[in-house]
Amino acid sequence: MKLKIFKYGEPVLREKSAPIAVVTGPLRAFADDMVDTMHAAKGVGLAAQQVGRTERMCVIDIPEGCETAEDEAFNSIVPMPLVMFNPEILSREGSQCDKEGCLSFPGVGGSVTRAAQVTCQYLDADNMPRIVTARGFLARAIQHELDHLDGVLYVDRLSEAERLSFEPKLKRLCGSNGGVR
Ligand code: NI
Repeated sequence: MKLKIFKYGEPVLREKSAPIAVVTGPLRAFADDMVDTMHAAKGVGLAAQQVGRTERMCVIDIPEGCETAEDEAFNSIVPMPLVMFNPEILSREGSQCDKEGCLSFPGVGGSVTRAAQVTCQYLDADNMPRIVTARGFLARAIQHELDHLDGVLYVDRLSEAERLSFEPKLKRLCGSNGGVR
């Protein structure tokens, strides 16, 4: 089932997520809906806040051809779609800067510096603890989605110059969706 995607300005995007005690059937069904919603919107990641919820969970699916061959090989053991409950980043290494976008910010995209590699722990749909290490584009997606779970948005991480250049668009988008920066 496709869910409504909340846009910049909606207060829920600034809310911090609450950890999940146990992954239940309804939460698994909700995760499936998040994956459907992400795919329908042609996104590569979606966090609970973006569909108006605050459980600590997110989904990621990187289509083929988005990563360098080297990163794709490194990341190939990570299951896709990656459905993570209670994800936490354990370690970060290196740095990368690249263009980023977000389904909650239609028509806006800017450059964000992030770690080049991250190791992340989470619970899978069967409540099994998992650890993944990811590089490149997937590492970027994981950091972006975990930011959402903390109420942090990628525009918070733009350079001052870029943020200023997007300001009119951001103001308009925010104003038509509830007005919460
Ligand atoms: Ni996003």
